Amino acid sequence: MDKLLITGGYPLNGEIRISGAKNAALPILAATLLAEGSCHLSNVPHLQDITTMMSLLGRMGVELIVDEKMNIEANSRSVHTLEAHYELVKTMRASILVLGPLLAKFGRAQVSLPGGCAIGARPVNLHIQGLIAMGADIQVEGGYITAKAKRLHGATLLMDLVTVTGTENLMMAATLAEGITLIENAAREPEVVDLANFLNKMGARIQGAGTETICIEGVPQLTGAEYSVLPDRIETGTYLVAATMTGSSIKLKGTDPHLLDAILVKLREVGAKITLGTDWVALDMQGRRPKAVNIHTAPYPAFPTDMQAQFTAMSTISEGVSILTETVFENRFMHALELQRMGADIRLEGNTAIIKGIAELQAAPVMATDLRASASLVLAGLVAKGETWVDRIYHIDRGYERIEEKLTQLGAKIRRVRNHV
Ligand code: UD1
Repeated sequence: MDKLLITGGYPLNGEIRISGAKNAALPILAATLLAEGSCHLSNVPHLQDITTMMSLLGRMGVELIVDEKMNIEANSRSVHTLEAHYELVKTMRASILVLGPLLAKFGRAQVSLPGGCAIGARPVNLHIQGLIAMGADIQVEGGYITAKAKRLHGATLLMDLVTVTGTENLMMAATLAEGITLIENAAREPEVVDLANFLNKMGARIQGAGTETICIEGVPQLTGAEYSVLPDRIETGTYLVAATMTGSSIKLKGTDPHLLDAILVKLREVGAKITLGTDWVALDMQGRRPKAVNIHTAPYPAFPTDMQAQFTAMSTISEGVSILTETVFENRFMHALELQRMGADIRLEGNTAIIKGIAELQAAPVMATDLRASASLVLAGLVAKGETWVDRIYHIDRGYERIEEKLTQLGAKIRRVRNHV
């Protein structure tokens, strides 16, 4: 199993290009199932989760052509299997995103229940309830969701909780339903808006994406479309934290700083000097140590839960006491236990981490437990004294494109080691 070996203490400097957003590319790939023609996607990140989604679609019979730049052509004309098998779903929860499109377009779907997850229970009850309200007949048996519907019909869906993939699944299903669907208390994440923009290019009639109420007027069919996936705001945020923690100066190109408001506010609060262009962001910490900051995660536009682990890592070496409260997932502090092994002073109280910043972390062998937790361990390794080994980095490969190459380009001492014992 691959590991990352990081020698801490090197400042970062220079420019890198940000990849396309994983969490936009995944639903957009699933949405290609809805089209009557070919879809052409660009700015798709080269990640394990994208490979998993392509395997899932490929097994259903979607024809996929991928070039060396990860431009993807997808055509669903030969779909023969309306199933997402447990073997793939268990490696990626976002596989649930095929449920809405399969049911809406082909009238049937059998999708494995995603099951438990390291960061929380993460049920999919709201996806199922929404589809039932749109006329689907759904059975959950033997670990599978089996759904049928002649044609879905529009409905008013009041979501109990803000759910990102739930909103996306129901929005995709509604594009081909008969009549109007209203999704109330919808997720407002930029990735939901990106999916809506893609669906509208395919001929869907969606209004209000990015607000609490999304209105979808069903159409009889959708066409193929060309689309470039939006930049990854979480990858951008992760590199900005890397620069902040190491007292560095970096520039990130090919991104959209307007998607990062909540993160940039906090980075300015810790003392970072930030300049923005239309598609770049530069951060200069001028060799200073970050100041402590309090964080409260919540759905967009509030501070993203997907940046909580990275801010936890930063807080371990910040000046003062930081209080981080996680409100989206119930068990998302596994990285805190690994950071403690590097000397961090973290006290966990329910969904809150109270972190007293120390001058220096000590390198240690640590283990990734989920995608963003693994990023936080890499960040800690960049500032720790000595050599940090990060194990189970298959988590990081699910969501960060060539992380060791990008960090090396910025001057970090990091390398991938195969089968180290
Ligand atoms: C998406 C993102 C993930 C991010 C998360 C929150 C993708 C592929 N993944 O995950 O990176 O961390 O949003 O921003 O886009 N819930 C229910 N019932 C449901 C659905 C959700 O109770 O049917 C709960 C979840 O357990 C969680 C909360 O709602 O506590 C939010 O989860 P949700 O927004 O659905 O997360 P994902 O869409 O899985």
